[in-house]
Amino acid sequence: MTFSKRTDWNTALNPLAQKAEELRAHPDFINLTVTNPTDCGFSYLTPALLEPLLHPDGLKYTPDPHGLPKAREAVCRYYAAKGILLHPDQIFITASTSEAYSFVFKILAEHGDSILGPAPGYPLMDYLAEINDVKLIRYPLIYQNGWQMEPKILEECTARVKATLVVHPSNPAGNYVSEKEQAILASWAQRKKAALISDEVFYDFALETTPLPPSFAAQNDGLTFTLSGISKILGLPQMKLSWVVVTGPEELKNDALRRLEIVADTYLSASTPIQNALPLWLEKMPAIQQEIRDRIRSNRAFLEKHFAGSAVEVLKTEGGWSSILRMPGIQTDEQWALDLLENQKVLLHPGYLFDLEEMPAALVLSLLVPEESFKTGLARLLSAKTR
Ligand SMILES: Cc1ncc(COP(=O)(O)O)c(C=O)c1O
Repeated sequence: MTFSKRTDWNTALNPLAQKAEELRAHPDFINLTVTNPTDCGFSYLTPALLEPLLHPDGLKYTPDPHGLPKAREAVCRYYAAKGILLHPDQIFITASTSEAYSFVFKILAEHGDSILGPAPGYPLMDYLAEINDVKLIRYPLIYQNGWQMEPKILEECTARVKATLVVHPSNPAGNYVSEKEQAILASWAQRKKAALISDEVFYDFALETTPLPPSFAAQNDGLTFTLSGISKILGLPQMKLSWVVVTGPEELKNDALRRLEIVADTYLSASTPIQNALPLWLEKMPAIQQEIRDRIRSNRAFLEKHFAGSAVEVLKTEGGWSSILRMPGIQTDEQWALDLLENQKVLLHPGYLFDLEEMPAALVLSLLVPEESFKTGLARLLSAKTR
């Protein structure tokens, strides 16, 4: 018996993960990597959120590869509030953003084709590409007092590239794709006959109140797939509902929709009660997002103040749930993470997990951590070789 090569993964725990497992139950353990919003003490998580699931419409099965019209209409209202007018037929409801990625990869790429994706970027992307037989080629975001794309890297890529993927704003770097970068990407996509894929799960979580560059759902110059879902925008990852919006020139868009319809019809994976609940949950979105934004903004402000004048650099960011610290270069990111875990019982992610290899002593932490633990964890960091 042999298994597929694409699943030949090394699943052994690395020393950091092993140590974290050992310490998890220790009373002094502080996990500064928690990004699961249901583990962060938010008050929006009350049983009242479950009420829409009791609606009797949840007893009927009316399969639709696009997802239930009322869920898609609710997604249209979400974009209309951003000034973007969509038709419900441009939307497919999926069970997760990861699934939405898989659907898009399946219609775009043959075995061995490439998709360009950002570095730093979140680790799941590599697996998503791999299990869909797509090669993910990382293009570096450059840090110069803020993160930017380097357009000539896209131009120079000679592989058979079917799409460029952006995370808007990045996880973990937090930069939005600026309007100028969006225009460059759209022109690249048209010239190369490739698509754009924009992952916007963190779009609503800006750290500042300044106007944001638009969502790619407003992009019609090239074929564009915009992905989002309620795991982040409503802080409800356990409910499993996401979507993909297809925009672009009419003929290409319709061809993509026709193909996605068959892929989605093969799975029909989004559950009926959850789709029925979406319109009501989206009505609660302003309050939920406010609570999450208050947390990330207050933790971010504390983070900046805490390390001001120290040897730890807090990298600039614009949004999302994470921040990156550049630690003193006396040891690598992995050594820093192990050191802090063993000696301070504080867990942070080493940067290499997010393809931050260019920055050898970078650590990534979550801004969702409850404020008390966040402050205690950071105090321990400051007492560790960083002054
Ligand atoms: C940038 C980004 N996109 C997508 C996902 C996955 O989202 P979902 O839970 O909807 O699959 C994550 C999960 O952390 C993420 O960070």
